[in-house]
Amino acid sequence: MRIALLAGDGIGPEITAEAVKILKAVVSQEIEFDEALIGGAAWKVTGSPLPEETLKLCKNSDAILFGSVGDPECDHLERALRPEQAILGLRKELDLFANLRPARLFPELQAESPLKENIVTGTDLMIVRELTGDVYFGTPRGQRKDDQNRREGFDTMRYNEDEVKRIARIGFETARSRSGNLCSIDKSNVLETSQLWRTVVLEIAQEYPDVELSHMYVDNAAMQLVRAPDQFDVIVTGNLFGDILSDLASACVGSIGLLPSASLNSEGKGLYEPIHGSAPDIAGLGKANPLATILSGAMMLRYSLKREADADRIEKAVSTALEKGARTADLGGKMTTSEMGNAVLAALN
Ligand code: NAI
Ligand code: MG
Repeated sequence: MRIALLAGDGIGPEITAEAVKILKAVVSQEIEFDEALIGGAAWKVTGSPLPEETLKLCKNSDAILFGSVGDPECDHLERALRPEQAILGLRKELDLFANLRPARLFPELQAESPLKENIVTGTDLMIVRELTGDVYFGTPRGQRKDDQNRREGFDTMRYNEDEVKRIARIGFETARSRSGNLCSIDKSNVLETSQLWRTVVLEIAQEYPDVELSHMYVDNAAMQLVRAPDQFDVIVTGNLFGDILSDLASACVGSIGLLPSASLNSEGKGLYEPIHGSAPDIAGLGKANPLATILSGAMMLRYSLKREADADRIEKAVSTALEKGARTADLGGKMTTSEMGNAVLAALN
């Protein structure tokens, strides 16, 4: 198994180092990591946030383990050169349209949730976020002067029916493999894009008569996630709404440092990354929680490498470490990034 390892910026190198440590311990001889530059780290060396060489390595690897990109030193750059363009470019180039973001409450972390115990108990949901369309990629976009010579920024929210069909099918399949309930989230009372989304999701529903489909507007969904998160099992939604709702869901279950993700294409190629960013405020301080990245490694074993038992082993070790009281600062504790990695390692054995 050859894994492209893209540590990136900020806390990226610290958190991916812990995930690599755990993956090597679990599958030892059979896994190899090829490191490549991405984001601000790549821009500083090559002048591009997503060098051709990095892209080539990703295309030729069995899976990609990604840290995070984003560097305040690059804030002055034009958009095409910004570190964040690297992850968007990678998703687009590899057609990684299906983003799976599980958010589950570890029972040991009940106290870390800002929600009351009776509200957060039982939260275990999967957000299926479309990742290669929507307002993040729609054109035209830009900045210009309006007819009164005021500066104006504009983006285009756009989905075609094929893009909605394929993510809807992933939503229904995911729901079928879990509780059988799927909630599609949109803003179809206002947005044309969402109206098409809802129409197409309803059409695809015909293929899945065994799945119970519901619809919710995104503003209500934000409220419901805080009010009663356990009402959701599988959520399917567009790129922008999924981005926002998954940060919200992460806070409900304790910390953004806990949530992993898988981004898949139709050939089963996958990129695995924590849902958070490069956290420049704590970069280099050993404060970052590596669990989201370690759990992303477990998702990589499950989805790309078909090693379900090893994935289970890592997830169980994370639970055990938390049960024994392992806590980084975001969880109210004092452990460093590598101490948390070591706690998971100890729990594996
Ligand atoms: P962020 O997710 O990096 O950080 C938000 C807050 O959560 C910060 O207070 C941070 O310290 C904390 N946090 C994040 N991950 C943590 C972890 N593992 N352990 C403990 N605390 C953690 O989001 P922010 O601040 O909006 O963006 C920072 C940079 O990251 C920006 O350049 C942004 O564009 C980029 N970004 C990159 C993403 C990616 O690489 N996929 C995703 C989101 C943002
Ligand atoms: Mg985000």
